[in-house]
Amino acid sequence: MPAVIEQKKIINTNTDFLPLDGTDYIELYVGNAKQAAHYYMSAFGFQAVAYAGPETGVKDQASYVIRQNKLTFVLTTPVRPHNEMAEHIYMHGDGVKHIALKVNDASDAWEQTMKRGASSFLEPVRLEDSYGEVVMSGIHVYGDTVHLFLERKNYTGPFMPGYRQWNNPHFQPKDTGLLYVDHCVGNVCWNQMNRWVQFYEDVMGFKNILTFDDQDISTEYSALMSKVMSSGNGFVKFPINEPAEGKKKSQVEEYLEFYNGPGVQHVAMATNNIVATVRELMSRGVEFLKVPNTYYDTLLDRVGHIDEDLEPLKELGILVDRDNEGYLLQLFSKPVQDRPTLFFEIIQRKGAKSFGKGNFKALFEAIEREQAARGNL
Ligand code: FE2
Repeated sequence: MPAVIEQKKIINTNTDFLPLDGTDYIELYVGNAKQAAHYYMSAFGFQAVAYAGPETGVKDQASYVIRQNKLTFVLTTPVRPHNEMAEHIYMHGDGVKHIALKVNDASDAWEQTMKRGASSFLEPVRLEDSYGEVVMSGIHVYGDTVHLFLERKNYTGPFMPGYRQWNNPHFQPKDTGLLYVDHCVGNVCWNQMNRWVQFYEDVMGFKNILTFDDQDISTEYSALMSKVMSSGNGFVKFPINEPAEGKKKSQVEEYLEFYNGPGVQHVAMATNNIVATVRELMSRGVEFLKVPNTYYDTLLDRVGHIDEDLEPLKELGILVDRDNEGYLLQLFSKPVQDRPTLFFEIIQRKGAKSFGKGNFKALFEAIEREQAARGNL
């Protein structure tokens, strides 16, 4: 028996050269990190964790770390002009800069991806303080987006070396049931989807687990294509979208225009109780896309039996879709900044491993109504 187990181990090591333990954190570059942190805490129910800035010896930027269950966001802003971070915000507005992935060996992750053709953002660097050490490295992906590899085996501090604990005993908003990053979607330019699919396959050892073409995802006006890339163990999923030809400007084109290039379109956050989570988020001011009430007239014919009552789903506008393995409930926020770029998805999976293909049409029509209101359709 042990021989068999040993053999299995060897096979796994050979096939997955970049084992990822999930998302460590997502860092956004924003125009005002102090106020953004307050928004994510008050509206989404994150808690204060750590801070780095001029007071901790970081001269040029301020970073606020907030957390809810396994979701960690870092909100970073430059405190001076004329630097890469200030330029990033000028070009892209608020948006995701770093997707940090948990690894066992950040040096190996960097070497494995570099020898397969990655472009280096950060050579492996060891950061130390009295709480232990963290090793970090990073590679460039689409646009100005970066994947960091984070190795924090024995680190016991609040976040990372350079950060100090941050909390406010007078402001600790209740959580909203958000648990972890389910997937993180990138928008890339015309005809670039397959290039990035290839990148994730060749450089990071990901597999293409689902494909949507413009027949699946099109409305009267606009279309897009999407391929879902998954890490070997399925802990990290990156769907990649590109625009497709339609009568009018597609939502991906609108994103690319206002983000000034490729970038993260949405982050999907998982919950175990989407009705409670969405009700709470709405009461705190998070705005969601709304499908017409007629969506619910035929919903149960389409998806069959579901455990949830239909009424609250209809009241909150929650969408449902089914695949061979089960069903999922999902809802999409409106963009969380003035540019029509980054938004969030709230998702509850009940067996389904897919991404809501059956909802695309109703959803994109809702997006187009918003686009038209902005004068961008
Ligand atoms: Fe999604």
